Amino acid sequence: MKEADISQVSLIEADTFPQLFPPTSFRKELQREVSTVLVAVTNPNIVKGNETPLTVLARKTSPSTTYRSGSTGWKPGMDFLTGFIFLWDTTFEESHVMSIGTRRSHRRKGIGELLLYSAAISSIKKGARSLTLEVRVSNVPAISLYKKYGMTTQGLRKSYYIDNHEDAKIMTVDDIQSLDYRNLLNDRRVRLEERLKN
Ligand SMILES: CC(C)(COP(=O)(O)OP(=O)(O)OC[C@H]1O[C@@H](n2cnc3c(N)ncnc32)[C@H](O)[C@@H]1OP(=O)(O)O)[C@@H](O)C(=O)NCCC(=O)NCCS
Repeated sequence: MKEADISQVSLIEADTFPQLFPPTSFRKELQREVSTVLVAVTNPNIVKGNETPLTVLARKTSPSTTYRSGSTGWKPGMDFLTGFIFLWDTTFEESHVMSIGTRRSHRRKGIGELLLYSAAISSIKKGARSLTLEVRVSNVPAISLYKKYGMTTQGLRKSYYIDNHEDAKIMTVDDIQSLDYRNLLNDRRVRLEERLKN
C-alpha cells in the first residue's frame, strides 16, 4: 500500500467491517515497522455490470452511494484497488493477519486468495515462523479461505467480538518456512494464476 491508496483501502474496510470502531488509521500503519498492508490492484475498466461508466460515476456521485457499483473511492488516474490485507509482525516470529477484505463487486474471483498467498510469501521473506488470525465462527467464506492455506483451528476466544459477542476461532499455520508449506503455496499459486487469467 502507498499513501495514495489509503482512501480506497479505508472505504473497503468501512464496507467490509462496518462494526469496526475506530476504523484503522492506515496512514499511521504505513509508518509502523511492524505493519504490512498489501493491496490488490486491477484495471477499473474490467468492472462488469450495468453501471454508469466508471469515469462519470467517479466524478458525479459520492462514494457512499456507489459502493456496490464497484468503483467507490477510485478516481481517474488512480490504481483501482479490489482488496487489501493488513498484517502485524509480532514477537515470537509470528505474522498476525489483522484484517482482509475484497470489494463486494470483486468477490469470488481469487482476489482474497491472492492477498492471503501474498501475505504468506511476505511473512516467509520476513522470517516469520507462523501465520495466525482470529475469525468469527460464522464467517464461512473466510474460514474456507484460511483452511485452503493450511490454517487450522487452535482454539476459541469466547465473546471476542463486541458487537454481538460472537466467539472467534483462532486459526494458525505453523512452520511456514517448511518445505511442505512452500510446496502447498507453489501448488496454490499455479491454480491461482490460471484462475486470475480468466
Ligand atoms: C473472505 C473474503 C476476503 C474472500 O475474498 P474473495 O476474494 O471473495 O475470495 P476468493 O475468490 O479468493 O476465494 C478463495 C477461497 O475463499 C473461500 N471462499 C470465498 N468466498 C466464499 C464463499 N462465499 N463461500 C465459501 N467459501 C468461500 C473458498 O475457499 C475460495 O476458494 P475456492 O474458490 O477454491 O472455493 C471476502 O469474502 C471478504 O472480503 N469478506 C468480508 C470480510 C471478511 O470477512 N474478512 C475476513 C475477516 S477474518
